[in-house]
Amino acid sequence: MNDEPDVDFALLDRQLIALLADEADPLANTANFVGLLYHALPDINWLGVYVLRGQELVLGPFQGKPACVRLPLGRGVCGTAASRSATLRVADVNEFAGHIACDPESNSEIVVPLTLSGKLAGVLDIDSPYRGRFSERDQAGIEKLCRTFTGELSNKPAPVHRSGAAGDRAAFI
Ligand code: SME
Repeated sequence: MNDEPDVDFALLDRQLIALLADEADPLANTANFVGLLYHALPDINWLGVYVLRGQELVLGPFQGKPACVRLPLGRGVCGTAASRSATLRVADVNEFAGHIACDPESNSEIVVPLTLSGKLAGVLDIDSPYRGRFSERDQAGIEKLCRTFTGELSNKPAPVHRSGAAGDRAAFI
């Protein structure tokens, strides 16, 4: 890893609020959430959202190489974090039993559950080529950004699906 200064998470949080302020569409807001974080966090090679669809996590907006599309709940880092509704910060994914390797270049990973209306809606997944990339400080900062993101989405009208009916507020895309 290089010697870049620590990320200013408080500034990033304010930038996220400003970025989401004038838009209600959850897909657009999720895409911009992902784009903002991917370019603000150094030493990562993939960052994206997986959306809960039944018993699976399905790939949503991301930055990085094309990735695995469907991840079962309870398996891999994402599926385990989702089924526990708890952040998983894995210093070396090669030592995580059941890790799903979408890209062999990834060596560490953090997965944060995304909750809407008290229900699991998906996860934010971030990968790094460096072992031990994510510190406790990173975890706290990224968790706060996720709470800001889901909080902002919750303040907006539920997505209207193609049928014209308002969607489920516990789903964000
Ligand atoms: N490594 C993840 C799969 C998703 S990719 O990293 C983008 C996992 O074990 O759940």
